[in-house]
Amino acid sequence: MEFDILTLFPQMFDAPLGDSIIGRAQSKKLITVRCHQIRDFTTNRQNQVDDYPYGGGSGCVMQAQPLYDCWKHANSLGGPARTIYLSPRGKTFTQADAVRLAADYDRLILICGHYEGVDQRLIDAVVDEEISLGDFVLTGGEIPAMALADAVARLIPGVLADTVCFTEESHWSGLLEYPHYSRPEIWEGRRVPDVLQSGDHGAVERWRKKQSFLITLQKRPDMFARLLFTKADLKLLGELRDEADDPAVRNALARLHTGRITVRRTTKRDLKGFETMYQTLGLSPAAAIDHITTLDAEGITCFSIYADDHGFCGHCAYDVDGDTAFLRPTILPHARDKGIDTFAVAHVLDHLFAGTATKTCVISDDLPSDVAQRLGVVRTANESYILAKKNWRK
Ligand SMILES: C[S@@+](CC[C@H](N)C(=O)[O-])C[C@H]1O[C@@H](n2cnc3c(N)ncnc32)[C@H](O)[C@@H]1O
Repeated sequence: MEFDILTLFPQMFDAPLGDSIIGRAQSKKLITVRCHQIRDFTTNRQNQVDDYPYGGGSGCVMQAQPLYDCWKHANSLGGPARTIYLSPRGKTFTQADAVRLAADYDRLILICGHYEGVDQRLIDAVVDEEISLGDFVLTGGEIPAMALADAVARLIPGVLADTVCFTEESHWSGLLEYPHYSRPEIWEGRRVPDVLQSGDHGAVERWRKKQSFLITLQKRPDMFARLLFTKADLKLLGELRDEADDPAVRNALARLHTGRITVRRTTKRDLKGFETMYQTLGLSPAAAIDHITTLDAEGITCFSIYADDHGFCGHCAYDVDGDTAFLRPTILPHARDKGIDTFAVAHVLDHLFAGTATKTCVISDDLPSDVAQRLGVVRTANESYILAKKNWRK
């Protein structure tokens, strides 16, 4: 990965990107960082890079010309590059962006603004995306550029000792990381949890996963609401709910279904469930048999969903057209918001992406919006949900 950084303060990058892990990655040629002084590309005698804003107002604006010439020079130094302007108006940077940038590009050009920002025409001319470090305003784009370069660089193979170094960390799988402990065993009267000294790797793994769930639920309920649970996760969450001292945690987990969920290809043995569903939806139960028997002829694959104590919970049908699959889940009201709906839809999606589909359109007017949110899908006006890509769990 190559980084070309356009800045008025190249020396600011020396220590943050020249030392420690990122510095070693540069020595090993795993990454290359080039800083370009924007001022070197001015055409006036004072090397001025900014001027007053048209329309009045306070402060100065970085002019398009020196930045453009600096960008052209940087752009000419290698292969195709993605140009990013660090800006408080950009999309807030997340781990998912770091993963995307590391995976999709070999070269990033980072533009650091100063003063009031950059002439809009330069942004329109060369910038592919604007990225913000967060909802606050800094004096310049240098710290955001360092943060972005650091987050992307550590994902480049070989920069960290082991892939596990980042796949087990906060935000990788939508969870915050479990707590860490090191020697001594007792510090200031506080003991390391017994399980971590048990030597039982399975127990350690289960404890860590539960801690991750607990910490995410307590600190970032917004992230917790977007999680998709496997059957094993639901079991752990049931244990967590039963063990928790905190009533808020018990309440938050009370709604989750922790029993068995079965998602299986629909056949005539599911007729009773379909009849109940038709009745619930205000349709004639007699039509259910036609629904099941015409699936094959219409090229539709359908899955029936069952859960312990909840019986038939709904169905999820899909058909594929080119690289796009159209997924139509119908989840009955009694099965919503318990983790059954997300588990079932996620299960079908995994099955589906094992085939040829790379994109999915989830069509439903009864898929609860929190399910759509957890699945990472976008809601459109006509109640459809578009899933952007194949690796939708990331
Ligand atoms: C003082 S800021 C300009 C703020 C701008 N006038 C506004 O209100 O959006 C100067 C420069 O710092 C950088 N910057 C400031 N806050 C940032 C943030 N949260 N994320 C990324 N870059 C930021 C940008 O490059 C910006 O051009």
